[in-house]
Amino acid sequence: MNKVLVTGGTGFIGSHVCLCLLEQDYEVHIVDSLINSSPNVVQKILEIKNLKTKIFEKDIFLHIGDIRDEKFLNQIFSENEFLSVIHLAGLKSVSESTENPLQYWEVNLGGSINLFKIMKKYCCKNLVFSSSATIYGNTDKKLIDENSEIKPINTYGETKASIENLLKNIYHSEEKEWKICNLRYFNPIGNHNSGLIGEKPSYPPNNLFPYLNLVASGIKEKLLIFGNDWPTEDGTGVRDYIHVMDLASGHIAAMKYLMSNKPRILNVNLGTGKGTSVLKLVKTFEEVNKCKIPYEFVSRRTGDVARTVADINLANKIFDWFPERNISDMCIDGWKWKNFGHVSI
Ligand code: NAD
Ligand code: WQD
Repeated sequence: MNKVLVTGGTGFIGSHVCLCLLEQDYEVHIVDSLINSSPNVVQKILEIKNLKTKIFEKDIFLHIGDIRDEKFLNQIFSENEFLSVIHLAGLKSVSESTENPLQYWEVNLGGSINLFKIMKKYCCKNLVFSSSATIYGNTDKKLIDENSEIKPINTYGETKASIENLLKNIYHSEEKEWKICNLRYFNPIGNHNSGLIGEKPSYPPNNLFPYLNLVASGIKEKLLIFGNDWPTEDGTGVRDYIHVMDLASGHIAAMKYLMSNKPRILNVNLGTGKGTSVLKLVKTFEEVNKCKIPYEFVSRRTGDVARTVADINLANKIFDWFPERNISDMCIDGWKWKNFGHVSI
């Protein structure tokens, strides 16, 4: 039995996780409603593997449906025995979550409850969960470790913190049974270096990197940089950007760690431990991709903080996991994925 279930597996991070799983010979089952992704992703993953679909087909399965649909999940679990579940399905826009909290609570928390119920029913108690650094409160710490205060400031972050709390309750209700790892991602960017899979960008994008891509491609005239008066090296916001392939390999490391250890619940940061300012990211992007990014400083964005950088000692130590790609790699690979077909200029 080497089947792994990946919810949200056709999405940005999920597609890279699926690729890494296939490369390590797991049989991958994706559950995705396709609300923010395309079924073609499966073909692209196979292309990257450079194997003939017919031969390889048996190793990756796409089950199209919603994690809130109990009957649908029940059917999949009744037909397959999974070694582990990697749960990425959910909604992720901070601004949208503030406008539509009911939808975010229903999908993120409601969908997760449904999934965990089915996992318990079928005695599948190995779980890697996509959490987020957004659950940490504002802090002056240079590096944010896993014991930092949990104090989300937006609805999206609250749904993630609540799922972590729920998982803590589930773990303590059956301590000798569950193996759970909450992975708290910092700022994933970049794509697989084939340029075949990547993020389906919302338009206009909320996040910096997809916006940079739109400016570089001429679709947007300039980048608006939110503040040059932050208490940072050059006055612009500092974040811990992590290449999505490194992030993906962190999931496999977490899953393997859980499988080879006794039941436990863990919270682990995934970042690089290095901070990069907006200006530094822009300059690197221009340099490695030989393009110009016009920008303008505007006022700070509500809810932003000066700096968030991960302490990744725990992941280094227990998973023996170390990110391998730097900011230049992220900018080069991230520019290879140009999926602007849906954008009307
Ligand atoms: P994504 O939108 O590309 O992927 C999420 C996938 O989940 C999509 O394919 C979508 O179709 C699917 N999905 C959404 N609702 C569903 C439902 N009800 N049932 C089944 N499938 C559903 O997002 P991503 O960037 O790949 O993020 C994956 C996970 O990581 C999310 O849980 C997100 O909150 C978390 N996360 C993302 C970031 C980031 O910056 N991208 C940072 C921290 C945490
Ligand atoms: C990065 C920096 C901005 C856009 C968000 C979510 C978080 C997580 C990751 C899911 C900041 C600046 C941005 C722009 C800019 N997602 N910026 N101009 O805010 O660190 O984190 O994505 O879990 O929950 O909140 O990422 O990419 O939006 O911003 O100057 O047009 O870029 O001010 O300093 P953020 P981001």
